[in-house]
Amino acid sequence: MKKTIEEHADRFSQIAADYDETQSSDEYRACASLVVDHADPTPDDVVLDLGTGTGAIALALAPRAKRVVGRDISEGMMEQARKKAEKEGLDNVEFGEGRFRDPNYDGEVDIVVSNFAMHHLSDEEKREAIQTIADLGPRRFVLGDVMFFGEPNPDEPFYSPEVDDPATVGMLADALTDAGFALTAVECVHEQVGVLVAERAGDGDEVPSAE
Ligand SMILES: C[S@@+](CC[C@H](N)C(=O)[O-])C[C@H]1O[C@@H](n2cnc3c(N)ncnc32)[C@H](O)[C@@H]1O
Repeated sequence: MKKTIEEHADRFSQIAADYDETQSSDEYRACASLVVDHADPTPDDVVLDLGTGTGAIALALAPRAKRVVGRDISEGMMEQARKKAEKEGLDNVEFGEGRFRDPNYDGEVDIVVSNFAMHHLSDEEKREAIQTIADLGPRRFVLGDVMFFGEPNPDEPFYSPEVDDPATVGMLADALTDAGFALTAVECVHEQVGVLVAERAGDGDEVPSAE
């Protein structure tokens, strides 16, 4: 991690009020939309959104899920998320402090999602986070994020080396499969932005085949 958890939390709390307005790029929208589509919860599913921020993904999924739990390190970002939930009349979504490697959640979870957040962790920390997510026992994990399909290029959007630490798609694929997931979809939104869908077969189930 290029900055401490506290530094990242402060940085996001400072920009929280304006965050939604600044997320207007086609790639961010495409990535968020793909995460929501691939998460595809049923009305019985509990969804955990890690690095939930102002709740873009959590709030989009809440009407289709039983319950959505958002976790983040920035109280300022979650304040915005709570306001939006109230405005939209969504009472099955809650936001609270939690980290990728310590989500502060031990209830049931069917689907884990994360959008544009895990790239703040180092690769080793991402591996730990992915194992932590696997240990929660979801059947699906949908990761939208800054990730390298080719060579890292700080002159291209979405990668600022001073704060970001994105992984290659290969590293993420390895970490996901090492944690017992099967990769079922890889969506390249941009050379530096993608969505990975990982599924875990239940006891006795077939591992889903790649799309
Ligand atoms: C770019 S925002 C993305 C927010 C939201 N998922 C979205 O799609 O708009 C990244 C978020 O990740 C959070 N974050 C950074 N490091 C984190 C960590 N280790 N654990 C949990 N959240 C973290 C930040 O506080 C911030 O709210």
